[in-house]
Amino acid sequence: MPLIDIIAGARPNFMKIAPIIRALESRKVAVGQLRYRLVHTGQHYDARMSGDFFAQLNLPEPDINLEVGSGTQAEQTAAIMVRYEKLLFEKSSDLCLVVGDVTSTMACAIAAQKLCIPVAHVEGGIRSGDWSMPEEINRMATDAITNWFFTTSEVANSNLRHLGVGDERIYFVGNTMIDTLQTNMNSLRPPGFWDELKLIAGEYFVVTMHRPANVDTGNDFARMLEAIGQGTRGLPVIFPVHPRTAKTLSILTALPSNLHIVEPQPYLEFNYLVKHAKAVITDSGGITEEATVMGVPCMTLRDTTERPETVSIGTNELIGTDPTKLVLALARLFEGKWKKGGIPDKWDGKAGERIVKILLRIL
Ligand code: UD1
Repeated sequence: MPLIDIIAGARPNFMKIAPIIRALESRKVAVGQLRYRLVHTGQHYDARMSGDFFAQLNLPEPDINLEVGSGTQAEQTAAIMVRYEKLLFEKSSDLCLVVGDVTSTMACAIAAQKLCIPVAHVEGGIRSGDWSMPEEINRMATDAITNWFFTTSEVANSNLRHLGVGDERIYFVGNTMIDTLQTNMNSLRPPGFWDELKLIAGEYFVVTMHRPANVDTGNDFARMLEAIGQGTRGLPVIFPVHPRTAKTLSILTALPSNLHIVEPQPYLEFNYLVKHAKAVITDSGGITEEATVMGVPCMTLRDTTERPETVSIGTNELIGTDPTKLVLALARLFEGKWKKGGIPDKWDGKAGERIVKILLRIL
């Protein structure tokens, strides 16, 4: 029976693998056709960045944890490759399935392919064109050595065709991150501070920022936070802070009085906050997809996106990194002029099931 390695390393991976594992489990019970091994690289290791997600998404304990921990891009890449290769030497696999665009995605794909183990990439083919983001390098390197692509959009399919990938290797399956959102939509719950901060649905904002370009330089970060304070007109702004952001935040002296810094939130609480927010201000990619599906206005603090359908179809808009543009966008929101948005094709909660059906055919 073929063995699939399912790779997960960092927070945005966990919601993408959950529906695939669920579909594999139901097949396993039903027909016993595929085996899988869940490999956690340990890129994210805190309970708040990893463990909470495993618990809330009902993910099984990883079969293997490579425990690579923190480091520079090269240190993490190298550590993951060395440790994953060692695992493959000890016990090989028939397919390496990677998701998304984090360092673990690229490192495991390279280690596997060099041992002639085929690679499947879930969320393959998306591109921002911005080489200053490590995720873009990870996407390009991974896709260059991927055998089978599971894609989330027609734009991704077309990017791959332009790279010369044949249609027989591209499977447009939808979005596993959205599968997870739909599965959990009725279980979303308010965080503990909801009452304490007297939050009211539709009358607060959610902010997330963690891209090096936005948060590593104290002055730029401070100016953006000031604009957020100014543009949100005194409504509470909830800012769950990623560990990388916390480092810069700790050296800033004056913060807007309506800004509430909180710990990274678990999945169910975070998406409850997004669902009921007046708008989300973010530099994340995944959150733009979730906001689109929940119909919540989304302002992206980047000049590019690898998920253009969240802008052309969804509620997302690229604001860029100029704080004055954010203030103008917020003014438009308060005037009631934000677009309503629709849901992209095949973001219907069935991507995980489609992927497993295809895997059964491929293997
Ligand atoms: C990574 C991903 C990014 C994703 C983000 C979500 C890459 C290139 N980037 O970026 O795409 O959006 O995760 O969170 O893979 N740290 C902790 N605890 C942890 C993990 C990290 O304190 O559990 C600290 C690290 O020591 C480091 C910082 O957080 O100082 C950054 O972590 P790292 O995994 O290197 O990259 P992210 O910025 O989280």
